[in-house]
Amino acid sequence: SIPSRVRLIDVGPRDGLQNEKTPVPAAVKIELVHRLQQAGLKEIEVTSYVSPKWVPQMADNHEVMAGITRQSGVAYSVLTPNLKGFEAAVLDKPDEIVVFGSASEAFSQRNINCSIAESIERFAPVVEAALAAGIRVRGAMSCTVGCPYEGDIAPERVAYLAGLLKGIGVQRVDVADTIGVGTPRKVQKALEATLQHFGIDDVSGHFHDTYGQALSNTLAALELGVWNFQSSVAGLGGCPYAKGATGNVATEDVVYMLQGMGIETGIDLDKLIDAGAYISDFLGRKPNSRASNALLTK
Ligand code: HMG
Ligand code: MG
Repeated sequence: SIPSRVRLIDVGPRDGLQNEKTPVPAAVKIELVHRLQQAGLKEIEVTSYVSPKWVPQMADNHEVMAGITRQSGVAYSVLTPNLKGFEAAVLDKPDEIVVFGSASEAFSQRNINCSIAESIERFAPVVEAALAAGIRVRGAMSCTVGCPYEGDIAPERVAYLAGLLKGIGVQRVDVADTIGVGTPRKVQKALEATLQHFGIDDVSGHFHDTYGQALSNTLAALELGVWNFQSSVAGLGGCPYAKGATGNVATEDVVYMLQGMGIETGIDLDKLIDAGAYISDFLGRKPNSRASNALLTK
């Protein structure tokens, strides 16, 4: 049966802003995080500790993490692809770190400059160090439905990656449709493949909305009992490695759907819309959220 409550992880400050061409000052990112927590988000993916040559947008990771006035009960997560990233991140005391791999070999090479097998070798000491430090560990799995270079990705490859991540101690995983090509039944197959290795409470859906399928895919995931989702306020983002790919599904749209279905999220939609309007105003455009635009023009 469909879950009665859903936990949303807003990845806008990280997945969204990592793709913005307009430089976003740390103070604006910090204010965005503050507004998200005021709106009731209990998990926020704040930044990443990656090479500033690869992703200059996240070079202010320390400044952003240090500038947040933390709210109790809110978990702040950060991406760490290797030990170098972890060692920098740990100083900023994240509640959770995220290692990120890919179900597609070609995407792994382009995104993190190594094969899937090599990525697991790099993640293993990061996971070990994080768990030893009492920091939770999530694994993101990119291209679980389709890849910009390889096309369709078979569910077996998702199961394979999920098994590898489980094997090194990753506690929960994100099933990402990186380029938003998925449709409901395909997404369910990727989720079912992941559920071979992780329990239902430890699997989250991470759907980009390029083809307008992300809400349908969210509903399809709910039908399987999945109740953790990543989304991005104002639908921020894109994918630097996939032409025309858009951001994650807008958090506002997910919350609107869930509220309409009587599913509890703990999020105040008006305050969330305010957070989305704040960052969209800064970027000089309308929020990429249908619900937000409908409610703002009412
Ligand atoms: P590499 O070049 O293979 O790394 O990059 P390396 O170990 O050979 O080091 C090369 C240089 O990078 C050295 O500096 C290192 O110090 C530096 P140099 O001596 O040349 O001056 N370096 C670092 N600097 C800062 N932080 C680090 C770090 N590691 C090495 N952690 C690496 C490998 C992973 C670092 C690189 O490929 C990289 O940064 N990639 C960026 C990946 C990224 O951020 N992608 C976007 C996030 S993933 C995503 O969006 C998908 C997701 O949303 C799910 C979905 O939708 O699919 C999660
Ligand atoms: Mg993503």
